[in-house]
Amino acid sequence: MKELIKDTFELYLQDALEGMAVMQDNSVDLAICDPPYGAATSAKWNYDSSKKLNGFGGNWKLNNEEWDLLTGNEIFKSSYLWLKELKRLVKPTGSIWIHSTYHNSGFVNVVCQILGLEIINEVAWYKRNAFPNLSARRLTASHETILWVHTGGDKRQYNFNYDDVKRAKFAGDNLKEADKQLRTVWDIPNNKGKEELIFGNHPTQKPLRVADRLLMISGIKGGKLLVPFAGSGTEMISGLKYGMHSIGFETNEEYFDLAIKRIEFEESNVNSQLQLI
Ligand SMILES: C[S@@+](CC[C@H](N)C(=O)[O-])C[C@H]1O[C@@H](n2cnc3c(N)ncnc32)[C@H](O)[C@@H]1O
Repeated sequence: MKELIKDTFELYLQDALEGMAVMQDNSVDLAICDPPYGAATSAKWNYDSSKKLNGFGGNWKLNNEEWDLLTGNEIFKSSYLWLKELKRLVKPTGSIWIHSTYHNSGFVNVVCQILGLEIINEVAWYKRNAFPNLSARRLTASHETILWVHTGGDKRQYNFNYDDVKRAKFAGDNLKEADKQLRTVWDIPNNKGKEELIFGNHPTQKPLRVADRLLMISGIKGGKLLVPFAGSGTEMISGLKYGMHSIGFETNEEYFDLAIKRIEFEESNVNSQLQLI
C-alpha cells in the first residue's frame, strides 16, 4: 500500500472502509466526507468540451468516472457502511459533514437517521456559476446539499465555533453579513483559483472556500480531521491551514499523487508564513 505519513497529515492509497476499520473508537474530532454520489453517467458525450469555462480547469468533461457509476442500492449500502464506521470513530464533541447531490442526499439522510446520527443542519450550497445544463431537458442543477451531523445523541456536545462564524464576512457571499448568524443557504461560487489547479485537477474537486468554511464552523485546533474520500486533497489542505492533523484515504493513484503535491505545497506555504511571524 502506498502512503505518506507526516507530523501534519497522513494519506493512504487505500479503500476508506479498510483504513477506518483499524482506527481507534472516538479518535477523530471532525470528518468531512465528499463520497461518490452516483452522479456519473455512461451516456455518450456529444458536446464541445474544448470551449473554455473559467474555473473549470481547462477541458471540462462529462463525469463518467468509474468510481462514481453507482446504482441507488449500491449508494445506500456503501453510505451505511462508511457512516457506521464514522459513528464509531468521531467523538461526541466532534461532528461530520457530508456532501451530496440529489443522487445520494436522500440515502445519506435516511442512513444518518437509521444510525442515530443527529442532523444538526442541512445546508444548501448555492452555486451561482453552476455548470450549464447541456441537454436542455432539465433545470440547471445549481446547488449541492451538505449535511452536518454529530454522534453524541441528546447531549449535543459537538463543537460549534459560533462567535467566529457570526463575526465572519465571506468574500463573494451575498447572503452573509458580518455579525449576523450564518444561514443554511451558502452563496459560494464553484470556480477554483489558479493556485488550486496548478498541479492538475480532479473531476469533482471542491473549491477550498467551501472546506475552509466547514473548518471555521466546526474545526478543533490541534485535533484530528478524517477525510475518507480525499480526492485531490482539498479538505485536507483546509485542515492543515486550520491547524488540524488530517488523515485521508483515496483509492485512485492519480488523485492520491495529486493530493500529495497539493498538500505539500500548502504545507510549505504554511511553514514559510510561520517563519515570518
Ligand atoms: C467526490 S470525490 C472527492 C473530491 C474532493 N472533495 C476534492 O476536492 O478533490 C470522491 C473521491 O473518492 C475516491 N473514492 C471512491 N471510493 C473510495 C473508497 N472506497 N475509499 C477511498 N476513496 C474512494 C474517488 O477516487 C474520488 O477521488
